[in-house]
Amino acid sequence: MYADLETDALEALAARLEGDFNAMKARGLSLNMARGKPASDQLDLSMPMLSSVTDPASCTADSGLDCRNYGVLDGLPEAKRLMAVFLDDTPEHVVVGGTSSLTLMYDALVRCCLFGTDGCAPWNSLAQVKWLCPVPGYDRHFAITEALGFQMIPVPLTDEGPDMDLVEHLVRDDDSIKGIWCVPQYANPSGATYADTAVRRLANMECAAPDFRIIWDNAYGVHHLFDDVERQDHVLDIAAACREAGTPRRYLKFASTSKVTFPGAGLAALAASPDNLDEIRRHMGVATIGYDKLNQLRHVRFLGDARGIARHMSRHASILRPKFQLVARKLDESLFDVGDCRWSNPKGGYFVSFDAPEGCASRIVELAAEAGVTMTAAGATWPYGCDPRNSNIRIAPTLPPLDELDEALDVFVCCVKLAYAQKLLASRS
Ligand SMILES: Cc1ncc(COP(=O)(O)O)c(C=O)c1O
Repeated sequence: MYADLETDALEALAARLEGDFNAMKARGLSLNMARGKPASDQLDLSMPMLSSVTDPASCTADSGLDCRNYGVLDGLPEAKRLMAVFLDDTPEHVVVGGTSSLTLMYDALVRCCLFGTDGCAPWNSLAQVKWLCPVPGYDRHFAITEALGFQMIPVPLTDEGPDMDLVEHLVRDDDSIKGIWCVPQYANPSGATYADTAVRRLANMECAAPDFRIIWDNAYGVHHLFDDVERQDHVLDIAAACREAGTPRRYLKFASTSKVTFPGAGLAALAASPDNLDEIRRHMGVATIGYDKLNQLRHVRFLGDARGIARHMSRHASILRPKFQLVARKLDESLFDVGDCRWSNPKGGYFVSFDAPEGCASRIVELAAEAGVTMTAAGATWPYGCDPRNSNIRIAPTLPPLDELDEALDVFVCCVKLAYAQKLLASRS
């Protein structure tokens, strides 16, 4: 381990790593492991969808409705059936929206701020609103709660969900804590999947705020990398858990086909309790006459049903699996003797979470950029972009082709080693 090396040996190692780094830099690379985007061969899988709605006859819904015109606020019945699969719910609890689940989440919180929910005061009329943020987490979630002026409280995300002892302790007495971000399956970025006990505790916990909301963002619910044995299949449904706990209005579920068909041109949907749905539809009906039903038809025809979705996702997995396996192999082989590094080995989703030696993350990302490899900014996985240990880095291996990913990972591990060796030397001088 680097920390155990004598200073002479560490200096020699740092000099060698610097040489390796400069050689990599001289290659003028331009590689990207920053954002969780599907690769182009994944996008190719969904191209047939675009030719499923072409002539006037193909624009008709099951009910006979002409989908080229206005009508239907909350989704075609067949689109609700399809999105119910992603939301692990029944079609009558589903509202199909536009193309982005993030927009649906943003709108849900903005409505709470402007109008209140469940008969409670609008959140923007309160002196303070606080929000629980499992960390490491999704930067765009944090951007929403930051933009709305909520005070974000980081809560550790374990392999089994948020640290529920802490969550229960925080929400019991503080009625300004209005909710929590949750990515229950293959979380962004750690890949953690919530255990049943965590789901039940979220549903059952005593909340001082009667309008506490769990934002249940099941963005990766069907994004398994492995077929069966190793796969963590089914997260306990928060809706069922809340109904059982007598807290049926506590959750709002979200999902989209962004990483199933086309990001930015997919279908987004939410599921909620009947009371919450009434509230949502009332406000939604003011904001829009209706969403894109032609896109709903395309998705229904292309994906079909749960089996169609599973078939399609296994094609995605065939493309993604080797990339995640490469990351795991490279990190294992290259960093086993470095020390103070940890990384996740997800069974699905889009990311690997990497914990660098404390204090090194921003330097690693900076070095990688110098060598032509763009990483997600250090700190992005924490509220306000501020990781107090300056340790966590999100690796997004999906976009680059395998050979480029291989090169980018070589650069990354070299930067990890160099940053750590230099930091240890600096601490000894
Ligand atoms: C956890 C999570 N939720 C939501 C999104 C974005 O979803 P959409 O494209 O439906 O807005 C992402 C994209 O990376 C994500 O990781």
